[in-house]
Amino acid sequence: MYEKEISRRRTFAIISHPDAGKTTLTEKLLLFGGAIQVAGAVKSNKIKKHATSDFMEIERQRGISVATSVMSFEYKDTLINLLDTPGHKDFAEDTYRTLTAVDSVILVIDSVNGVEEQTRKLMEVCRMRDTPVIVFVNKLDRDGKFPFDLVDEIEKELKISLHPLSWPINMGKEFKGVYNLYDKNLLLFTPSQKATAENTVPINDLSDKLLDEIVGERDANQLREDVELLEGVYGALDTEDYLAAKVAPVFFGSAVNNFGVKELLDTFIRIAPIPKSRETDKRVVAPTEEKFTGFIFKIHANLDPRHRDRIAFLRVCSGKFARNTFYHHTRLDKDVRFSNPYSFMAREKDVIEEAFPGDVIGLFDTGNFKIGDTLTEGEQLQFTGIPTFSPELFKELVNKDPMKTKQLEKGIRQLTDEGVAQLFTQHGGNRKIIGCVGELQFEVIQYRLLQEYGASCSFVPLAFYKACWITGDKKAIDDFVRFKQSNVMEDKDGNLVYLAQSEWFLNTERQNNPKIEFHFTSEFKTAMAK
Ligand code: G4P
Repeated sequence: MYEKEISRRRTFAIISHPDAGKTTLTEKLLLFGGAIQVAGAVKSNKIKKHATSDFMEIERQRGISVATSVMSFEYKDTLINLLDTPGHKDFAEDTYRTLTAVDSVILVIDSVNGVEEQTRKLMEVCRMRDTPVIVFVNKLDRDGKFPFDLVDEIEKELKISLHPLSWPINMGKEFKGVYNLYDKNLLLFTPSQKATAENTVPINDLSDKLLDEIVGERDANQLREDVELLEGVYGALDTEDYLAAKVAPVFFGSAVNNFGVKELLDTFIRIAPIPKSRETDKRVVAPTEEKFTGFIFKIHANLDPRHRDRIAFLRVCSGKFARNTFYHHTRLDKDVRFSNPYSFMAREKDVIEEAFPGDVIGLFDTGNFKIGDTLTEGEQLQFTGIPTFSPELFKELVNKDPMKTKQLEKGIRQLTDEGVAQLFTQHGGNRKIIGCVGELQFEVIQYRLLQEYGASCSFVPLAFYKACWITGDKKAIDDFVRFKQSNVMEDKDGNLVYLAQSEWFLNTERQNNPKIEFHFTSEFKTAMAK
C-alpha cells in the first residue's frame, strides 16, 4: 500500500555544533524547494551561545521554533521533511529525540573548527541507531583545515568512514571551487548569495587542458594529484554501505554563498533512505503495511497560561493517518481522534486530511501524550528506540508550599512527560530528584510549575555524576538496593536507577557487582554504557 507516497519521501535532520551553519544550510535548502523566496526568511531559532540565562527569551525563541520544527517542501518530485533540532546544548535531549524520528541526517562541520563537542555527542546517537549520515564541510570560503586533515579528523573523532564525493580546490581567499567526483564536473566558486547553475564546467577527463585554463596550472595539478589519491583510496561509493551507516559521503561547500548546496541536495534525494521499517516491543513494522501506526517523539507546550494546549509531534511509521479517525493510544489503552492535525508545509501550519509514512504531523494535546507513545489501528504495540539518556545535572525538588503538594506532583509529572526533564523518585520513599542536561531546564521547570500549576518549588543541587539504569540477577539487585538505598531511585516507569557520585564510585560498584549491569540509557538493548 501507498508505495508511491512512501518512496517519494525523505525525512531527515541537519545536525551540527552551534555556529557551524545549520540555519544557513536549512535556509538554502528551503530556497531550492521554493518553500521560501528570499534569503533571511528563516528566523534563526538557535539560542546564541552568549545568551544569558534569560530563559523567557529562550522560550520565546522556542516558540518560533514550533513553526520551524518541521519544514516540508517538494524538490524534483521528492517530498522532503526536514526536522529541526535545537542548537543550544541545554536542549540536547530534544535533539536526541528528534533523531529517533528521522531516517537520515546531514551533519554540518565547520572547516575552520573541525569536529566540535556537540558533533561528537550527536554522532554517538546516530551510531546507536545506525542512521545514515551525509557530511557537509562548510565555510570553505574561510581559511580552514586542510581537507585531507579534516577527513582524517572526522573519521577518527566520529568513528565513521568517510567517502568524499566532492573535493575543494584551495580554500579561503584562494578558494576556486569543488570538483564533483561523482558527476565529474567542476563547480566554480563566485561569492554570491544566489543559486546559479551556469558556473558548472563538465570535466570528464582531468587531464583536459581546460582545467589548467580555468584554475591555473598549479591548482589543476594539485587537483589531479588529490583526485588520483582519492580514487585510489575510496573507489566508487557503494550506496548500500551508506544506507547501512557504514560510510558517510562528504561534500565541501559554503552554505552562506549557496555553494555546493544544490549538489548536496541532488545527491541527497538520490541516495538518502526512504522511510524505513521500525522496531516495536512486539515486531518490526514496515512502512508499507496497510494499517496506520506512529509514535510521539516531541511535545511542545505553550507557555502562555491562557492557552494550555500542547502540540505533540507524531511520526507516521506505516499506513495512512486520516483526520477525524479513531486511533488506539496503546499506553492508555483508549481510542483518540484528531479533528485538526496539521502539517508543516512551507512553514504554514495547515490542517491536513491524511499523512503517510515519513511524515510528521502536529496533534493538539491536552495532556494525553508522553514521549514514545504509540498510536495504532488497534494492535497493542509500542515503538522502541526512543531512549532516555542519563542527565548531567541533578537537583532535589523542594516543595515550598505544602498546601500545593498535589499541584506540584501533577505539574512535575506532566512536565517530565513532555520530556523537559527526568524525574527520579526515591525507591520506597518520596524524595524527588530532577535530572536535566542543562541549568536552563531547572529555571523552566520552576517558572512553569508556578505559572501553570500554582506550585512553588526550589532546588538543592546534588553532586551526582550519572544516572545508571540497573538490570540483572534479582537477588544481586535486591541486595544492592538494600545496601545503596540512598542512591537508588525509580524513574517514571518504575525502573531502578543508581545515581553514582563519581566515575570512581560507578566503576567500583561495577567491579563489586558483577551480576548487575549498569546502563547509561533507559533502553538497554541499545545501551551506550560499556
Ligand atoms: P548554526 O545554525 O549552525 O548555529 O549556524 P548559522 O547558520 O547561524 O551560521 C553561523 C554563522 O556562520 C553565521 O554568521 C553564518 O552567516 C555563518 N556562515 C554560515 N555558512 C557560512 C559559510 O559558508 N561561510 C562563512 N564564512 N560563514 C558562514 P553570524 O555572523 O553568526 O550570523 P549572521 O549575522 O551572518 O546571520
